[in-house]
Amino acid sequence: MAQKPHASGSVSPGDTSQRVGITSIESRGVDVEELREKLVDAIGAEFTTYYYYSNLRMHLAGNEDYKEITEDARLEDRAHFELVLPRVYELGGALPNDIRDFADRASCPDAEVPTPMDDEGGFDTSQLTVEGVLEVLLEAERCAIRTWSEICDMTRDADPRTYDMASRILQEEIEHEAWFVELLSMERDGEINPAGHFIRGEPGEAPYSTNRRINDSA
Ligand SMILES: [Fe+2]
Ligand SMILES: [Fe+2]
Repeated sequence: MAQKPHASGSVSPGDTSQRVGITSIESRGVDVEELREKLVDAIGAEFTTYYYYSNLRMHLAGNEDYKEITEDARLEDRAHFELVLPRVYELGGALPNDIRDFADRASCPDAEVPTPMDDEGGFDTSQLTVEGVLEVLLEAERCAIRTWSEICDMTRDADPRTYDMASRILQEEIEHEAWFVELLSMERDGEINPAGHFIRGEPGEAPYSTNRRINDSA
């Protein structure tokens, strides 16, 4: 019988100390260690942004439309974390054991409510403005676009699985930026800059990045 060309390769049969899923992308030029550490940083930013957007959304009191859009962006960041997390392990990486380490290495700044804490440790909301909150949201989306664009560049033509995940996320981050450009333009400058967007069908639908359709248990 003819030899099957992919029946064997550099990893010995039964060897569980190596993964063909790793060697195959290494041989195409991917620095796997660098990539997986960047992925941990990137999902650190998704995870912390999910947290910070919770707080930002709370402080859009009275602006129900802004709250809804922030909620979509918030839940989609959680979907981004969930989508890429298994990939970190496939590439031989792991989440930091200490969540503080995870937050510190996030690839984007903390998207804090733009107001000082008062003496009791609560928020001083007297100076808080809607446009201030929208600016924080906008810049967080821009950092996410830069982050996932870099991952796309590192994996294009060499690591189709990571590239597919990163490009799905990137599409949603670009949408998120457009949403907040529209809202901030009108709120701050009275300018109409349409995002071409209406709210998701379901909050946080994540049309590109959700892994619900791939894995019901995730
Ligand atoms: Fe995200
Ligand atoms: Fe986003």
